[in-house]
Amino acid sequence: MKQIFFKDINGFVCSNLTKNRNLVIEKNIPKEGGISGKVVENLANDMIAHIYKKTQGKYTIIGVGGIFSPEDAYKKIRLGASLVQLITGMIFQGPQLISSINIGLVELLKKDGFNSIKEAIGVDINFS
Ligand SMILES: Cc1cc2nc3c(=O)[nH]c(=O)nc-3n(C[C@H](O)[C@H](O)[C@H](O)COP(=O)(O)O)c2cc1C
Repeated sequence: MKQIFFKDINGFVCSNLTKNRNLVIEKNIPKEGGISGKVVENLANDMIAHIYKKTQGKYTIIGVGGIFSPEDAYKKIRLGASLVQLITGMIFQGPQLISSINIGLVELLKKDGFNSIKEAIGVDINFS
């Protein structure tokens, strides 16, 4: 098997679907397949924070899982995500969610005194 060296990696996508059905309150769901949306949010956020800290913020992290609002996206950015991705939020709220997240992010950044998303990346992570 080809060995993957760390220097070949530019970033990480955190995370993806979960198969942990214990996290779901609704029991009437299919037995097969992965689960998306809010169920994944905390798992993804923990992974973003862990990888950002472990790699000292040197890699691009794409935060994904349970983003339905500007606050959700902002949380991932503050934990170390440089970019965010979403699917389930758009399924429920439609494509206008993207512009409302962008508009809301500008407000959240301003409120905290940041001039750009770049300034907010990883600010909730303590490296010590
Ligand atoms: C309909 C659907 C199709 C997906 N297809 C893929 C896929 O082909 N490859 C992949 O890595 N993840 C796939 N995912 C997982 C998403 O990329 C994402 O990691 C996951 O849905 C969590 O984000 P969300 O809560 O915003 O949906 C899919 C998710 C959904 C809902």
